[in-house]
Amino acid sequence: MDDLYSENEQEYRTARVKSGIPPPSSRDQRRQPRGDLSRFNPAMQRGPPQRHAPYDQRQRDHQRPDDRYNQRPEHRDQRYPEQQQRQPDQRQDSRYADQRYPDQRQPDQRYNDQRQPEQRYPDQRSEHQRQPEQRRPEQQRQPEQRPRPVPKPLDVRTSTDFLKCEKRLSIKEIIETIQVSDSPTDLDFLSSKGLVERVNSLREKIRHVPNEQRSEARSKSNPFEMIGNGIFMNRAATKLAALDATFGLTAATDKEFTFADICGGPGGFSEYLLWRVHSWGGYAHGYGVTLKSTTHDEMNWHTEKFRPDIPRHSLTQLEGDGDLYKKETIDRFESLIQKETKQRGVDLVVADGGFDFSGNEEQQEVLAQKLLLCEIISMLTCLKQSGHFVCKFFDILDEFTADLVWLLYQLFDEICITKPLSSRPANSERYIVCKGLKEAHPTELIQKLSSMSETIEEGKRFIPKEVLEKDEDFIDYVKMRNMKFVMKQTEALEQLDQFIQNP
Ligand SMILES: C[S@@+](CC[C@H](N)C(=O)[O-])C[C@H]1O[C@@H](n2cnc3c(N)ncnc32)[C@H](O)[C@@H]1O
Repeated sequence: MDDLYSENEQEYRTARVKSGIPPPSSRDQRRQPRGDLSRFNPAMQRGPPQRHAPYDQRQRDHQRPDDRYNQRPEHRDQRYPEQQQRQPDQRQDSRYADQRYPDQRQPDQRYNDQRQPEQRYPDQRSEHQRQPEQRRPEQQRQPEQRPRPVPKPLDVRTSTDFLKCEKRLSIKEIIETIQVSDSPTDLDFLSSKGLVERVNSLREKIRHVPNEQRSEARSKSNPFEMIGNGIFMNRAATKLAALDATFGLTAATDKEFTFADICGGPGGFSEYLLWRVHSWGGYAHGYGVTLKSTTHDEMNWHTEKFRPDIPRHSLTQLEGDGDLYKKETIDRFESLIQKETKQRGVDLVVADGGFDFSGNEEQQEVLAQKLLLCEIISMLTCLKQSGHFVCKFFDILDEFTADLVWLLYQLFDEICITKPLSSRPANSERYIVCKGLKEAHPTELIQKLSSMSETIEEGKRFIPKEVLEKDEDFIDYVKMRNMKFVMKQTEALEQLDQFIQNP
């Protein structure tokens, strides 16, 4: 003990050391039962080595005017919240409020701390491991320190409530019901105007936020964001995986499973389906159609990115430009599948159509309507009786979209409007899971819908409002689902905005 200084000695406090590591003092000896002084090493905690002994009061004040006490994030040790809150003028003795002893006011807890050194002293981690708010002051984006938002648990539970049609019309009656007419927007019919406007204003607020900032905020607020693609080529695959886990889409009875992947590029859905069926020893074959893009290659098929354990040639892609707006594409897709499956049709159809809506998120629903109609027509040409259909929708606020949902409700045994866990909570995307097609290949209905798709314009509906109004089950279901989605989306957007404002 004789060779150790006491901190009270002037000589110790002003001693210059080359390493920046102060010599052990008698206090260190007393307080460090394990004899490891490195955890008190302020040089390690601060990053760049200090030139002078930290107890040199003049140097310290000169070099670090205000970061000694509560400005430096690495000393905001969550173990000692009251230390963080202490203001400089509340210090009992500035000399001893040193970073070497962040815990000196609570010696008992110090030795009970079971955490790893890097957790106790976050600044020992390398620069890239630190959170932005823990970086050194010169690297911080914002000089002033605002309270850090803490992510709230978002309600992302998947709805599994199915709606079954009790007043089912025949195909002939459905065809007779179809009448295209004008449809003025009435947000209160299928949702709540106030809630929708709130979502729109939040969307507008974050619309101009640079992508990088937005994705950083998203990764903090959405628990699934950083999970990313999992073992697949893209995030889309994980959405289908979540839907399959919830709704048993691939639980086919026989060993051979067939599917159609509509608007499927670059192929995440197909990759998932092929992998899933092959993973339990089944055999799967898919048929895919997607728009051939000359400008966005990432939207074209990229089956070379599939997992290597997926058998090659288990996906047949339709030749040509793949544009579903063209009747000829739908006809060729139908012929391909009917020929390959020997008129049996496929077990499952998935449709995930979309394009770049950036800056037009509010218009997403209306812009996607024609594509949705074409996807439904394509599905009707190739899905087998009692097969399932999964289709991505955006909002269901406009009557044309609600008419499409009503059509599916009439054609399938039951439908569920849902959102998989891995779909971003702040977006308008939702999926309709339709189980048990009642009648395979309803030719006359396909023809009726095809001719409608060629002439349909924005702002129209094709099922009279009274038909929907009369079906209270349907309206209640859609309205309740919409309200729930819009409330969850509001919460998620508010949280996202919080992380954008305060990164
Ligand atoms: C979100 S991506 C689909 C992602 C895909 N499910 C996956 O798992 O990789 C939307 C796709 O819709 C396609 N698409 C958009 N408009 C289309 C059209 N008119 N005809 C066919 N495909 C279209 C796009 O080219 C794009 O590949």
